[in-house]
Parts: sequence; C-alpha cells; structure tokens
Amino acid sequence: MEQALRGQASPAPAVRMLPTYVGSTPHGTEQGDFVVLELGATGASLRVLWVTLTGIEGHRVEPRSQEFVIPQAVMLGAGQQLFDFAAHCLSEFLDAQPMSKQGLQLGFSFSFPCHQTGLDRSTLISWTKGFRCSGVEGQDVVQLLRDAIQRHGAYNIDVVAVVNDTVGTMMGCELGARPCEVGLVVDTGTNACYMEEARHVAVLDEDRGRVCVSVEWGSFSDAGALGPVLTTFDHTLDHESLNPGAQRFEKMIGGLYLGELVRLVLAHLARRGVLFGGGTSPALLSRGSILLEHVAEMEDPSAGAARVHAILQDLGLSPGASDVELVQHVCAAVCTRAAQLCAAALAAVLSRLQHGREQQTLQVAVATGGRVCERHPRFCSILQGTVMLLAPECDVSFIPSVDGGGRGVAMVTAVAARLAAHRRLLEETLAPFRLNHDQLAAVQAQMRKAMVKGLRGEASSLRMLPTFVRATPDGSERGDFLALDLGGTNFRVLLVRVTTGVQITSQIYSIPESVAQGSGKQLFDHIVDCIMDFQQKQGLSGQSLPLGFTFSFPCRQLGLDQGILLNWTKGFNASDCEGQDVVNLLREAITRRQAVELNVVAIVNDTVGTMMSCGYEDPRCEIGLIVGTGTNACYMEELRNVAGVPGDSGRMCINMEWGAFGDDGSLAMLSTCFDASVDQASINPGKQRFEKMISGMYLGEIVRHILLHLTSLGVLFRGQQTQRLQTRDIFKTKFLSEIESDSLALRQVRAILEDLGLPLTSDDALMVLEVCQAVSQRAAQLCGAGVAAVVEKIRENRGLEKLAVSVGVDGTLYKLHPHFSSLVAATVQELAPRCVVTFLQSEDGSGKGAALVTAVACRLAQLTRV
Ligand code: BG6
Ligand code: GLC
Ligand code: GLC
Repeated sequence: MEQALRGQASPAPAVRMLPTYVGSTPHGTEQGDFVVLELGATGASLRVLWVTLTGIEGHRVEPRSQEFVIPQAVMLGAGQQLFDFAAHCLSEFLDAQPMSKQGLQLGFSFSFPCHQTGLDRSTLISWTKGFRCSGVEGQDVVQLLRDAIQRHGAYNIDVVAVVNDTVGTMMGCELGARPCEVGLVVDTGTNACYMEEARHVAVLDEDRGRVCVSVEWGSFSDAGALGPVLTTFDHTLDHESLNPGAQRFEKMIGGLYLGELVRLVLAHLARRGVLFGGGTSPALLSRGSILLEHVAEMEDPSAGAARVHAILQDLGLSPGASDVELVQHVCAAVCTRAAQLCAAALAAVLSRLQHGREQQTLQVAVATGGRVCERHPRFCSILQGTVMLLAPECDVSFIPSVDGGGRGVAMVTAVAARLAAHRRLLEETLAPFRLNHDQLAAVQAQMRKAMVKGLRGEASSLRMLPTFVRATPDGSERGDFLALDLGGTNFRVLLVRVTTGVQITSQIYSIPESVAQGSGKQLFDHIVDCIMDFQQKQGLSGQSLPLGFTFSFPCRQLGLDQGILLNWTKGFNASDCEGQDVVNLLREAITRRQAVELNVVAIVNDTVGTMMSCGYEDPRCEIGLIVGTGTNACYMEELRNVAGVPGDSGRMCINMEWGAFGDDGSLAMLSTCFDASVDQASINPGKQRFEKMISGMYLGEIVRHILLHLTSLGVLFRGQQTQRLQTRDIFKTKFLSEIESDSLALRQVRAILEDLGLPLTSDDALMVLEVCQAVSQRAAQLCGAGVAAVVEKIRENRGLEKLAVSVGVDGTLYKLHPHFSSLVAATVQELAPRCVVTFLQSEDGSGKGAALVTAVACRLAQLTRV
C-alpha cells in the first residue's frame, strides 16, 4: 500500500491504491432523488435503484430497485452491447416508476479497477470477476454509459458521478458517533476503500484534505506474501479462470470463487477415495457447479445434515453419513481462510489509517457490504475476531450496509451534483475578476491617456501632482534630520543620521480612528505630542532639526515645503484640513502646544519617499510604488511635459495619485457589484475607485462581500449567514496573505477562518481560498497595468527602443502577500515588453526618503548661500 501511495513505478506495487474523487464523508444534509445503476458488484446482475435522500438524519425512504440478469454473451461480448443493455435496463426501470423524470441525476456504481480523473471521469484498467467485454479497457466508462443512454434516447439522464462499490458502501453508512472511514466489500470479488490524507497520495500532488482511496486489494499478488498460502487448488482455479495470473488474492476470498474452491477440494478428496466412497459425478467434475449459496448453506450449522445431503445429491453424488460431516468441514476451512485473509488485509488498512493520522489508537467504523458478508453466517464473526487479534490498537465497529451501497452512491451523486452546481455559481461569481490580456491592455491605455491629460492640466481622474523633487541624492548629503511618516499602517517619528550611510532611530505611535476621523486640530495636536515625546526620549528637546514630512495623501504642492491637502483618503477624515497647507496645520499645532519651532523643509508623498529611499541605493530607481493600505505611484517626468511648473529642462517627480484613477467612470466596465458595495460603504463613496480594487484596506472587504453573496446562494457555509460575516473589516489584508500562502495545508486555512469565527468545511475553505486568489490576482494585474503605463511613458519620453528602469516599492500588501509581487512583474512584462523593470523593495519605509529629500534640499540651499 505504501509503495503504491508513494507512486513507486518499479517493481510495480502489489496493490493499486486508486484515488477516487470523494473527499469527504457525508454531512447528512444531502437530499433529492437519484437514479443509481450498479454494475459489477454482484456477479452477472445489474441493479437499478431509485434513491430518495431526505436530508434528515435517521429519516430514510426505502429505495425502489430492480435487478436484471446480464446474459453471459453480453458479459463476454462487445463493450457497446453491455452499455446498451444497461441503458435498456435503465429505461425499463424508469418506465415503471410513477415519479417525474425531469432532470434525472444518475450515480454509476462500477465495481472494477479504474483510474479516476474526476467525480464523473473514470477509465477502466482491466476487467475482473468474469467480465471480459471488448473495447472497454482504457476507455472512460462514464462516457460509454452517456453515449449508450443517448443512443437509447428514452430519457435525458445526467451521469453525475461514478464510484466503486466499496465507496458506495462507506458513504451509505448511517452517521454514527464515530466517522465511517472504511468501506469493505466481499461479494463476487473483494476490495476495500478508506479515507487517506491527500498529502500521502503522490499522484494527486495535493497537500490538502483527505481523499478516499480504493485499495483494489483483489489484485494483491506479492509472491513473498501469498506464496506460502497458495494451495494447488488455488493454482488450478487461477489456471482455469478468465484472467489467469490476475486477482490472486480475490480468488481466495471473493464469492465468485469460494464454491469453485470447495468443488476442487471435494473432487480431489473423492478421487483419493476419502469422500463418496471414491466416486465422482460429471457435475462434481465440471467448473462452476458449486455456488456460493451452496457453500453458505452447507456450512451453516443450523442447516442440518439433510440439507447437505440434498445439495450433494443434486450434484449426482451419493454421500454417506461421514461424508456430510467432512464436506461441512471443507466448506468451513475454505471460508475461514477467506475471512482470515480478508481480516489480514483490513488490519493492514487500519494500521495504515492509524499511521497516516499519526494517532496512537484509532477509533473507526468500517461499513461492510456484499453477499459474502451479508449472507455467510460465520464470515463476519471470523473477520472481526481476526481483526481484533491483528490490530489490537484499533477500536473498530463494523456496520453492515443497508441496501447494498445504493444509498452511498446516491450520497456521492448528491454531493457531486451539489459541488458541480456550486462550482458553476462560484465560477460565474468570480468570472468578472478574471481579466484577460485585452482588458488589461485597455486599462494600461486608459491610464496612459489620463496621465497625459493630467499633466497638461486638463480634466482627468489622475491629478499628476508636481512634487518639486528634481533630483535624487548624490551621496554628498550630511546631517541629522527629523522625519514624520503619516498615512500608512503606522505613524512614525524618526531621527535620520546621514553620514557615509544612513542610520535610523524611530518610534511608532498609534493614531486612533477617533483621531483620524475627528477634528483637524485634534489630529495635528496629537502629531505634535508624539514629536515632543520622541524628542524628549532621544534627548533632542530644544533642538530644531530640519524635518521631512512624509504625508501620504494627495497634496497640491507649490514648493517643496508647502502642500495643500486636496482630500483625505484611506479612512482619514479629520475635519478642516482639506484645502489647507499641511505644513501650516503642523506649525499652528506647535504654537498651540507652545513647543519649539520645527524647521519643516519638505513635505513628501510616501511614493516619493520610497523612490528616494531606494534611489539612494540604485540610481536607476525613477519610480516609486506603494501597495499597502492605499496604492499610488510616482515617477520622474520631463519638465517640458508638466504644465504649471516653470522651466522646460530637467525632470520632476510627479505624484500620480493613481488611487483616484477611474473616478470619472472610466473603470466602470471592470467594476463588479462587490466593488460597488465596498465603495458605497466607505467613507468616500465614488472616490479612489482604482485604489479600492487594489489596496489592502479594501481587498478583505471585497472578499467578505463575495462570501456574503456566495452564502446567500447556498454555495458557502451551507447557506447560513453568520453575524460574524456581516461584520465590516473582519478580513484583514494579512489574512489574505496568510490564506494564499503555498505552504499552508487546507486545514490551516480552515483554522484561520475558524479563528475569525467562521465555522466551515474543507470544501468551504477551498472556495474561500479561490475567492481570495481571484481578488488578489485582479488587484496585482491592475497594479501591473498601471506600472506598464508608467514605464512605457518614460521610455517614449526618452525616445528609447529599450528602457531599463527600477521601481522602489513599499506597502504591506506587496510585501506580505505570497504572489502579489510576482504577478505584478509578470503583468508588466506582458504589457510593456520593451522595458526591463527591476522591482526593489524598500526596507526602511518612506521616512528615510523624506529625510533624504530634506538632506538634498539642505545641500542645495547651502550651495546657493555659498
Ligand atoms: C511605507 C511608509 O513606505 O509604506 C508608509 O513608511 C507608507 O508611510 C507605507 O504609507 C505603505 O504601506 P502600508 O501598508 O503601511 O499602507
Ligand atoms: C473487484 C473489483 C473492485 C471491487 C471488488 C468488489 O475486486 O476490481 O473494484 O470493488 O471486486 O466488488
Ligand atoms: C492613497 C493616498 C496617496 C498614497 C497612497 C499610498 O492613495 O492618496 O497619497 O500615496 O494612498 O499610501
């Protein structure tokens, strides 16, 4: 088993371990009417069932069913004939049912070894158990059934799922106190399935959740293990079978073979003169004359000698009194061995389950099914006794399947139908988030147009604000500087010492929401209090160091040290600040607090601070990008393109304020109803529409709105709305980043969501993950389209065939999300193939950049003085 799970190719493992696509045991809420078609479990018969699942635990409706005998010629004929026969039986059965036959959903129980590639895709590996139809091995049996149903034309039936009989047996098990995670069938053939940890199944390449694996132990044929127990009778039986050399283990256990084994032993003993006075009969000497039913009856101690006598007489034998007892003995020996071998295999499965779960003791329920289990008096008790002996650390309860697994197949079908419907709804919901190349190229083109208009001072959603930063540091700057950094996750005060390198001491202060959304006075008083506290702690009280102020909001600058706040963004809304010079607001607060005058030299956007900070290391860094609470970019533009700033030569850094891109309606085509809900509920509806599709402050909210929608459709959380999910902002960016981390198993995703107070199943967790992926992927791609527009503009500005440029980046989303940065880079490469773009992550925040801008300004001022 372990070799096969690991995917070992050579030598070929002795069992197949075929993964099914059943990933969870039933909830008990499955409901609906299902048609089940069973082929291959019980000898030459085919069964059709109508199963009604009520969705209520303990409330069962008896299935209707009909059995059809498959003619021998069909079992050994052309495959098409077999499937046509099945389609014919189906419609004969349905004709007789009084119920409506609209929208029929069928579960196909097909009990042969198959490679499954989906809940409704399954390729037959090889026939077993007396079937040998041509043209079926290597084919998808679901498709063959669909084709036959269509050829027949009587009913429109959707074949939703295909399962092995062991899986049907396991899934149909009544929900008890302990989970039923093993299905055992001993019918014509024998096999078992169990729930394995997906990460142990090499072929699946899936580290999340569990999957039901069909062991296909019938083909177990390890020479070392089986050699000592194989008898001459086993060899003869194998030799004369339809599939010599195959299914050796099954041939010692399966109901198709037990009668034949007894016959071979009896014939041998008769020939040796031990039985029947040395006499045989033509029946005793012909294959298949003793059936499982005969063995079961003869072995039954309550049957009495007369019944054994009668059966032997029917075989043309004349048994004496001692013969009856001996024959009973032979039957018991053959069946005991079968039950014991089966128990040994089951014990192996149980210990595998225990090891896989890394548990000391295992409590588990095993669902049992098949005629041998059901009708053979001693089989089950020997099986159970032997399992206890071989796997004493497992506490096993055996639960007989109620209706031959039909209910379980219906369960799987119900789950499959539900999953398929849910998947369709999920896909429909997420489709608008999946942007193709053309859509992204259109965003790039629109951004480019808006840039040009903004630069010219024409109406545009991009303000393209001049920053008065004209040069990056040259390394000759020196001195001590204070810096403030307001507008991201943290408010910081910093002391920056620029010598041959840069040394930073900083402290984080919190800005309570009540202050961010209170009065402007309160906000700036608070800022001054923090500065005073910092100065005191650093022994700087009384000094007036040059100060650079990173202020991460849109400002119209008239010079380096003047910035008029145009409007608040990102959850700030302090009154009486918009339209004011932020440096003045700060100075007024200093006066109010009677603090020592500050020498504010520069006010700097965080994008600019980031560009400058990275520019100190890499002179090619001419773009600053932020993807954090908000999003924005700045870059070095040719002064001749900037209206409103005197001068035509040289460059100036432009703060694009691209968060507002689309506020003129130009992004309407891409905006979903979830974006609209997030926008409406924000404190600045209609504003920052691009930012609201990209940045950390909003992605969690978009996800939450999608989850609410999927819950209302019944796709998630079993359709139950929770108070928790109605709570704004429960989904932080950090959760998105955690959930999407590749190293996380699905159960960890579940744990994160459970910590948030959302109780959910693995299926739910997988969907939440897909929602997060779709939302963050769109964000990264839109951001990439923006960067592509910027780099292409710079390239064309300079008339270059190729441009090599670096982008300094900061922001929690960009830095913490596992895939965001690579998706941005990939999108830029796709949309701006003529630019070679290097992304540099800023390590020191924008405060350092603000200090550097200040340092450059001081250096230049000194020069002018000189
Ligand atoms: C850093 C700055 O550069 O990144 C912040 O120092 C800035 O002030 C931030 O706004 C953006 O990141 P976030 O995730 O904190 O908004
Ligand atoms: C055979 C089949 C297997 C089935 C078992 C019991 O071994 O190969 O798929 O589960 O019989 O019916
Ligand atoms: C918001 C601000 C902008 C800032 C960005 C990133 O969009 O308006 O100035 O650069 O957030 O913090």
